[in-house]
Amino acid sequence: MKVASIVGARPNFVKLAPVSREVRRRFDEVIIHTGQHYNYEMDKVFFNDMGIPAPDYHLGVGSGSHGHQTGEMLRKVEEAIMLEKPDVVLVFGDTNSTLAGALAAAKLHINVAHVEAGLRSYDKNMPEEINRVLVDHCSDLLLCPTKTAVENLKIEGIKRNVYLTGDVMVDAQRDCAKIAENKSRILADLDIEPKDYCLATIHRASNTDDPDKFRAIIEALEELGDIVFPCHPRAEKYLRQFGLWDDLNRRARVIKPVGYFDMLMLEKNAKKILTDSGGVQKEAYLLGIPCITLRDETEWVETVADGWNVLVGSSKEKIVQLARHFEPSQERHDVFGKGDASIKTAELIEKLVCGSLD
Ligand code: UD1
Ligand code: UDP
Repeated sequence: MKVASIVGARPNFVKLAPVSREVRRRFDEVIIHTGQHYNYEMDKVFFNDMGIPAPDYHLGVGSGSHGHQTGEMLRKVEEAIMLEKPDVVLVFGDTNSTLAGALAAAKLHINVAHVEAGLRSYDKNMPEEINRVLVDHCSDLLLCPTKTAVENLKIEGIKRNVYLTGDVMVDAQRDCAKIAENKSRILADLDIEPKDYCLATIHRASNTDDPDKFRAIIEALEELGDIVFPCHPRAEKYLRQFGLWDDLNRRARVIKPVGYFDMLMLEKNAKKILTDSGGVQKEAYLLGIPCITLRDETEWVETVADGWNVLVGSSKEKIVQLARHFEPSQERHDVFGKGDASIKTAELIEKLVCGSLD
């Protein structure tokens, strides 16, 4: 039995790592890398840190407009799948690589399994929301990280082959926590002390590509001062374009994106986390770090309901106020599962192919 895992961007790699390990215990796996992300620190560092096997195919698609990028991926993923003839194509999350993989496989009548199915922000201006909806609607196996995700699918009439697995990022974090602790030197390299800084990540197009919103967020970071900011290439591009780069560098620790081990250590030791990333909101919750989300809505509603995450959009005043004063008031719960999502994923894929799903 053969599984083809399609990945291309940073959050895909983090989710692939624990799943690939479990998949390989049971089946042959080929990894098809679209090349959506390609800088060492956005790509290879995750394969190295997390022990992900080297991709069998590297399609080298790179950056471009949505249509161009997704179209190139679709064409090239289809070729790879036709050569490999897998029983299942496995896709992760909500990137353009996820959409291309799912669409190529569905049109070839190959089973599509979607890890992180059912997430919704209900904001169609978000490219990821389009990807999620389309991928879920052409998937044969929907692997949901949360109960909310299962309910979201129900509302859209998707009830068949929907399973609550928990979140594979719990598994990823658990697998790497100890090694990160031993291997990462990031705090020493940056000469920072635990709980002496806030960690910021910003890369959502709705923030970076809008000069007014991005300026307001950056002004808030500058006012806060004690910020470490691993800067996504998209954010760097627009910071330079909008003339914000030099001032920000004077007032905050702007660094290149970091590998997974360094990121876990930066997250764990932060006073607070300010982010527009989906994955980082979740990791903040799992680590018990208060999170200030630089968006108006989130797919990870459980983190907000539990009082550990607060949505502030791009208002400078709100960001500063909450970064200084927000304190979670409630206990955290087991909302993302117990760290066995990858095992459940591999078991369900096996049942899908054998025709023995309940
Ligand atoms: C993509 C995903 C987003 C995810 C993010 C994770 C889509 C639609 N978006 O957004 O869901 O949260 O990845 O990081 O799939 N660039 C480089 N080097 C790289 C990668 C990107 O310089 O290795 C620059 C290029 O200028 C590129 C821009 O970043 O145009 C955006 O990259 P792209 O992959 O299109 O989208 P992301 O913003 O990274
Ligand atoms: N991440 C990382 N280094 C960074 C920024 C993020 O290792 O400099 C990790 C982060 O810990 C999480 C994943 O990348 O596991 C999230 O990806 P990202 O924020 O790019 O995308 P999103 O989750 O928003 O789709």
